[in-house]
Amino acid sequence: MSGKNKRVLIVANWKEHFNISKASIFLHKLQESVIKHRDTEVVLAPNFLALHPLQKQLDHSKFKLAAQDAYYEDVGPYTGEVSASMLRGLVDYVIIGHSMRRELFGDTDKIVGFKAAAVVRNNMTAIVCVGENATERAAGETDHILTDQLNAALASVTASDMKKIVIAYEPVWAISTTKGVRKPLPDEIFKAIKKIKDIVEHRYGKRTAGRLRVLYGGSVDGGTAQDYLSISGVGGLLVGSASLRHKDFAEIVERAHSFKD
Ligand code: PGA
Repeated sequence: MSGKNKRVLIVANWKEHFNISKASIFLHKLQESVIKHRDTEVVLAPNFLALHPLQKQLDHSKFKLAAQDAYYEDVGPYTGEVSASMLRGLVDYVIIGHSMRRELFGDTDKIVGFKAAAVVRNNMTAIVCVGENATERAAGETDHILTDQLNAALASVTASDMKKIVIAYEPVWAISTTKGVRKPLPDEIFKAIKKIKDIVEHRYGKRTAGRLRVLYGGSVDGGTAQDYLSISGVGGLLVGSASLRHKDFAEIVERAHSFKD
């Protein structure tokens, strides 16, 4: 099955939760709950302020760090921004183009492309989030949206830089859903990820597309992780809400490990 010969990548997106001391306490619990497995790569994405203290506290054999965003200009008069070059050496990954950033903070497809290029240029791996919203899905525009978002995100990324790109497929309508809201069907996820790989293959060739890691994200928890991971093409998970509960997150990591054939 494609993607299953690589390490499964599990990313915890803490969003705007946990100040520095709470992040530190939570990490302490996580380090006790999460068991290290060589076949599973676990990445934590706290807020910018917590990155440095957590880097010191982290059991580096168990966890890596990600930033939740980065600005594309290395230095300059960009009040309030943190650049990819400032994150160099501090994190291995940077999440780019999360739907919240696109929706609330004006991150257009083009800006996501600049950011992805900056992350790669600064030698970190960009986790590029793509996905359609409910209206776009209902209108049958999913493939079209994925094509536009990906082509813009990868506009300045070369074939050799594709080693530093991970794509996260996050249907916007499936993020942080409450009980009763429809979850994406395995076939919907399979088709979207196939589309993502087709676009990458079209841009960079079969080999690069075959090596690409694609994550699924959207209301994943300990109970559903294995179902999502068993969908062909899914190479890992981007986890929001459930990553704020240490036992739930540890279970997701366990599922990822036991899932490996
Ligand atoms: P969720 O968040 O797991 O709470 O749906 C995922 C995300 O926004 O990355």
